[in-house]
Amino acid sequence: MTGRTDSLDENAVRRAYARWARFYDAVIGPVTDVGRAAAVAAVNSVARRHTGDVPLKVIEVGVGSGLSLPGYDRHMRITGIDLSADMLALARKRVDDRALGHVAALEEMDAGALTYDTAVFDVSVAMYVMSVAPNPDAVLDELARVTKPGGDVVIVNHFARSDGWVLWFERKLERVAALIGWHPAFGREQVLNHRDLDLVEERALGLLRIFTLMRFRRRA
Ligand SMILES: C[S@@+](CC[C@H](N)C(=O)[O-])C[C@H]1O[C@@H](n2cnc3c(N)ncnc32)[C@H](O)[C@@H]1O
Repeated sequence: MTGRTDSLDENAVRRAYARWARFYDAVIGPVTDVGRAAAVAAVNSVARRHTGDVPLKVIEVGVGSGLSLPGYDRHMRITGIDLSADMLALARKRVDDRALGHVAALEEMDAGALTYDTAVFDVSVAMYVMSVAPNPDAVLDELARVTKPGGDVVIVNHFARSDGWVLWFERKLERVAALIGWHPAFGREQVLNHRDLDLVEERALGLLRIFTLMRFRRRA
């Protein structure tokens, strides 16, 4: 990762998303829809290949206001966790309002210290979380740990450019990471080379290609 500051700790994340919660769906939602749609489609395609009577178990870390939740196929069991009680309140309201019965649980929890057993989820998902989380290495470790061997870990994020004026701007913005609630200069190398995860797909999303979807397979 490039140019990281340490100012965005857990409490700063909670404060940032307490501020964002009121505007998140209207302001950030439309800009980031393309990544959520791609990640949800990737999960749904795993579900369609899934055989057996037991529903596919999916964990979405940093579920936020739950914008993704209506998009998942209904025969899965989705668990969502987030650090921010304010964002989770919006997700819970969405589940109630839209009767989203496939959402099994929404819990306040740190994605870097999940309380779930090892290898219990078929798919783990993190959308726009890795560059927000104060502890991205721990989050990746936990995504790998709770995913069953052979299961998928899907990550969508904006990754810093490797050069040019956009990278210069991202580095400048990094100074206000705690205020805006994410690290603009977060680099893709930060999520590569995990000992238990093999990269099986990577693609830039949308016309502007500012977001990237990565799909990893959990090693057996
Ligand atoms: C940019 S929002 C993305 C929300 C949602 N995934 C979406 O696509 O709209 C980032 C979310 O990650 C959450 N978050 C950041 N670090 C976290 C951590 N360590 N554990 C759990 N949630 C975290 C924030 O509280 C926030 O709700």
